[in-house]
Amino acid sequence: MNPTLEQQDLAHLFHPCTDLAGHARSGPQIWQRGEGVYVYDNHGKQYLEGMAGLWCTALGYGEKELARVAAEQMETFCYGPLFAGKSNEPSIRLAAKLAEWVPIDGARFLFGCSGSDANDAQVKLVRYYFHAIGKPNKRKILSRGNAYHGVTVATAALTGLPAFHKHFGLDMSEVVHLTSPHFYRQGRPGETEAGFVERLGRELEEVIEREGADNIAALFAEPLMGAGGVILPPDGYFERIQPVLEANDILLVDDEVVCAFGRTGNPFGCQTYGMRPATMTMAKALSSAYVPISAVAVPPFMYEPIEKAAGEVGIFGHGLTYSGHPVAAAVAVRNLELMEERGLMAHAAAMAPTFQAALQRLGDHALVGNQRGIGLIAGLELVADKDTRQSFPPADKMAFKVAAACLEEGLVVRALPGDIVAVCPPLIINESQIAELADKLKRGLDRVLASL
Ligand SMILES: Cc1ncc(COP(=O)(O)O)c(C=O)c1O
Repeated sequence: MNPTLEQQDLAHLFHPCTDLAGHARSGPQIWQRGEGVYVYDNHGKQYLEGMAGLWCTALGYGEKELARVAAEQMETFCYGPLFAGKSNEPSIRLAAKLAEWVPIDGARFLFGCSGSDANDAQVKLVRYYFHAIGKPNKRKILSRGNAYHGVTVATAALTGLPAFHKHFGLDMSEVVHLTSPHFYRQGRPGETEAGFVERLGRELEEVIEREGADNIAALFAEPLMGAGGVILPPDGYFERIQPVLEANDILLVDDEVVCAFGRTGNPFGCQTYGMRPATMTMAKALSSAYVPISAVAVPPFMYEPIEKAAGEVGIFGHGLTYSGHPVAAAVAVRNLELMEERGLMAHAAAMAPTFQAALQRLGDHALVGNQRGIGLIAGLELVADKDTRQSFPPADKMAFKVAAACLEEGLVVRALPGDIVAVCPPLIINESQIAELADKLKRGLDRVLASL
């Protein structure tokens, strides 16, 4: 008898970001097709995809126009590098399209395949830039607790989550993690949000004093933190820290991998939170996840010295075989065009109040200590005691239980470290689907509550 897909998965696949031993016991969930905001497993059961995959399928599933563009590009010109000044039309058109979207004047775009490799390139770019302007000691990178910037050797070190560090032998010597801007968890008893922001600002000043401004290149920051727990910056946070960064010539690297292209109610998260980024990283919704592609926006003030320094070396010695892959670029261009033609930014902003109101109602649920969100992204933090904010023992895996119960109900949500249930549906979601999502999420929470 032929082995089942489940058996072959257990025999041959190495699953990323997975409880490997738990997976060996429970086996895989196998997805087979998708349409709009719905996905279907290999038994034909329908689920509302409340996480847009991994915060990425903005335009929803089964978009034939993107499939057509990919097939056409594969037939016309399947691959050509951007190395050594060679170019291809989709990459040129994507860079020009991004120049219309991205709020960094005169930016140039360096393409990659994932958010991780793009942020890795950012680490190299900021160091290259400071080297080029005669400040080679500016190498250290500031990040924050709960940050998620990727999993390469450099970006895993920036990520502020222990599971991404333990056992990997990362070099943490040039990374400094600041306190997570998570007021619900990091705020002290009696501390106001404004007081918390002031404390974070002072911490930044002290770290710069201690490490030396001459040794610090950049602060990496997501406008709102996604994988670290859907953590919204407290009011006034970026206003407080940006002047400190600017005064010390520390670049603000805006990691928009989750936020870009409409997630927070504006095209970019930096616009929602008044950030003034030096550079920006994009991935995920750039292609609505139809193909892997990422982009780094490099401003002229960095590009010009980098160009000069690269001239002295002979080449700018960074790039991937697939930087500017024509199929990925063609799909990304069409994805952005479809977002424009269908008014997706306006749609997402218009759905946000309905979505947030529906999720806010779940804040009253007995398991939910804190409910937060903006635009079309939200998180529910589960607690054992609402008054004391006491968490459940990690071994109880409460958020995983809720995510599993939601699957039973036909809804995909994601369990994050710290017992947070994340919700981040495709941006095409409509009002009745939002009601369906909230209803299924409530039933998932109820199921777990009833089992306690
Ligand atoms: C904010 C942020 N940055 C970077 C990454 C890494 O992107 P990738 O998984 O494509 O490497 C992620 C992934 O979730 C992310 O959320």
